[in-house]
Amino acid sequence: MEILFVASEVAPFSKTGGLGDVAGALPRALAARGHAVSVVTPRYGSIDPVRWGLKPIHRAIHVRGEATTLWVKKERAPVYFVEHEHFFGSRRGLYGEDGGDYPDNAERFAYLARAALAVPSAMRLRPRIVHVNDWQTGLLPFLLRHEHRQDPALSAARTVFTIHNLAYQGVFPKSVVPVLGLPWDVFRYEAMEFWDQLSFMKAALTFADALTTVSPSYAREILTPEGGANLDAVLRHRAKDLTGILNGIDTHEWDPATDPHLPAHFRADDLAGKAVCKAALQEELGLPVRASVPLLAMVGRLADQKGIDLVAAALPSILDHDVQVVLLGSGDKRYEAAFARAARDRPDRMAARIGFDEGLAHRIEAGADVFLMPSKFEPCGLNQMYSLRYGTVPAVRAVGGLEDTVVDYDGWNAGTGFKFTEYSPHALTLAVRRALDVYRDRRAFGGLVLRGMAEDNSWERSAGRYEALYRTLGA
Ligand code: ADP
Ligand code: GLC
Repeated sequence: MEILFVASEVAPFSKTGGLGDVAGALPRALAARGHAVSVVTPRYGSIDPVRWGLKPIHRAIHVRGEATTLWVKKERAPVYFVEHEHFFGSRRGLYGEDGGDYPDNAERFAYLARAALAVPSAMRLRPRIVHVNDWQTGLLPFLLRHEHRQDPALSAARTVFTIHNLAYQGVFPKSVVPVLGLPWDVFRYEAMEFWDQLSFMKAALTFADALTTVSPSYAREILTPEGGANLDAVLRHRAKDLTGILNGIDTHEWDPATDPHLPAHFRADDLAGKAVCKAALQEELGLPVRASVPLLAMVGRLADQKGIDLVAAALPSILDHDVQVVLLGSGDKRYEAAFARAARDRPDRMAARIGFDEGLAHRIEAGADVFLMPSKFEPCGLNQMYSLRYGTVPAVRAVGGLEDTVVDYDGWNAGTGFKFTEYSPHALTLAVRRALDVYRDRRAFGGLVLRGMAEDNSWERSAGRYEALYRTLGA
């Protein structure tokens, strides 16, 4: 079947988080199942066409009468990059710079949606499914119905909207309605209006033919007032159209047996290389090189969602133990400063790297013993699945995708990680203490490692679920 997949970030070309990983991997997994998938995303200034081998397309596409061009990365699932110097090409960031959002994000991503809808007729595609992701593509389902009724390239298309994170909603002052060329008719409670503002997220929840989110647990949580980010009523209204489909991981990019970022390789039946990775990581981060000390790690956006406040509060008591703590992340400046300070105070036990570093993220997954994800909420989470595959035992809060992908250690011979429920520094500290106790029992800990490594979280199964969903839409 023909599928058009639209996302504001696509790894490895652009990425701020898991959306990029998913948009990089899912289209490829669908293509491997025999579908004709094309991907559309912006060409941000950070994407160098020469470095990535992009080819210009000489046919113009038109967005509200203005002509623009595309680049393509020819792959099994070709990626089309929308060129727009002002909106994308001149920007260093994807959504903003220096901690602030770009003020014209509504226009930038309305543009992306319209450009994506212009691609099928220009490239002679006939998608049956247009699959869009997160608020950045939220206007597309409406624009497809409203502006492409006569477009033969899209006449058979149905839309699927995937919520990767309900917390980011793309809400803008109502003055953008005419600027975006939208009819005022959409500014109603039943459509895109949200507390007297325009919500791209709500637009998608209203107009997409099918809704999905990235884990079954999160699909349930967002129907509740606690988890619904003020959109639970809208979601409950569409509950029968909402499915939770767990993300997969790219098992080529994340394979400890071949990962080019690692100093040594390993697999479940030969873990010697993991010890080499641990020593090299300690060395790289300036920590004492000690095989026996439990190494706890975190990689991720330093945002409230990730439970960073719990980590900050629990850190002193965690560092009282004979442990090493490694953190890689960026985001909230307060937390960046707090972790950098903790690392300066305890250089023998703590290392913090503030920034985004793909290679180091891989080396941490490989070299650590325990991976912390005490998230407040977590639609899916990829790092715990990378951890499982890299023999690093996840310690997670039992929410969203973390609940669905980690099985709590039963104190005997089942389980793949450590889970806790209460959102408190105390509960996190107890989970860490439990991990440290089990770590000392080499057989018990080794069992956890091997059971985790045996889990299959590849995209194959999830891609099949999307395919089944597309079929329910008649594709
Ligand atoms: P989210 O999308 O909410 O940020 P996920 O767990 O789904 O969380 O995905 C995060 C992705 O981004 C993972 O691939 C992770 O390794 C990567 N990542 C996050 N922060 C960093 C960082 N500072 N450096 C390198 N990779 C990072
Ligand atoms: C979001 C979520 C994360 C999820 C990712 C990919 O950024 O925060 O939990 O794994 O999207 O779907």
